[in-house]
Amino acid sequence: MPERLKSVRFHEVASTGAPFKEDVVRGLLASPKSISCKWLYDEEGSRLFEEICKLPEYYLTRTENELLWSIGKERSPLAGTIIEYGSGHSEKVRALLEGVQAYVAIDIASVAMERAALALSQDYPDLKVLALVADITKPLPLPSLLNSFPKPWVAFYAGSSIGNFSNEQARFLLGLIRENLGPGDGLLIGIDLQKPISILERAYDDAKGLTARFNKNLLNRIAKAFGIDISLESFKHVARYNATEGRMELFLECLEDQTWKLGPGVLVSLQKGEMIHTENSYKYTLRGFRALLESSGFRPQKTWTDSKELFAVLYAEVC
Ligand code: AVJ
Repeated sequence: MPERLKSVRFHEVASTGAPFKEDVVRGLLASPKSISCKWLYDEEGSRLFEEICKLPEYYLTRTENELLWSIGKERSPLAGTIIEYGSGHSEKVRALLEGVQAYVAIDIASVAMERAALALSQDYPDLKVLALVADITKPLPLPSLLNSFPKPWVAFYAGSSIGNFSNEQARFLLGLIRENLGPGDGLLIGIDLQKPISILERAYDDAKGLTARFNKNLLNRIAKAFGIDISLESFKHVARYNATEGRMELFLECLEDQTWKLGPGVLVSLQKGEMIHTENSYKYTLRGFRALLESSGFRPQKTWTDSKELFAVLYAEVC
């Protein structure tokens, strides 16, 4: 191993919550049926999501990247350490690394993250890199784990992934992030903005059918885990805007009656027309999101947005 790779440390912080099968059974026995969106991201799901990010209809990644590169050039907010929540492939953070001394990647998907952290530390030999395998929705004692990491710390949460959570859950998660920071530290966060429904529906039901494959991949994952057959043709990908909640909702709509045997005595029946709710993606107003930050212990300081106001990146200081 080349000398410079030694600067990456890996650390498994905690177990990562209820296992897949248990969670799926619980969600499918509930009414209405739902499955947590975190299960969309197995190896194939993560690969499909990377492809979605390159689609012309999926404006989020492209727009956020442009904003991040201009934020990186401003070199403000200045950070000693960037701590990325849900770091995935650690691509976006590259825009921000000029003048930064250390980078901490936190993700639940250890394989992709470890590969990404190694690649990053090769490309930035002077950067101190730590990869933490952890569930960001659970408390994480960063101040003790990172006591040698230079301040100020900037928590970085990209991609409008916060939009997977309801406002109440988001407040809890932002509160956890806030608890790990101290005076002078801050949060840089990307959010997707409210916009005409036609743009949103195209972004979540693309012409190539990649989002449909991404959603239906969950059916493959279920079939494999429980050793059953599920016909992908018997489900339809549905992406809808819920105006009351201000969010995109993804579903798998069942097109023909079927029964799944998920264990001894565990039969789940699905009827034609029934929907399995698989993801929420909240869309914000700047005012609404600033209020959410304020109620989570942050003081919004700066906002960057593109000329069409599709997406925004905000910086907030702890208060
Ligand atoms: C990773 C949660 C930000 O909500 O836009 C993309 C996931 N789902 N297409 C989003 C997703 C379908 C994505 N987030």
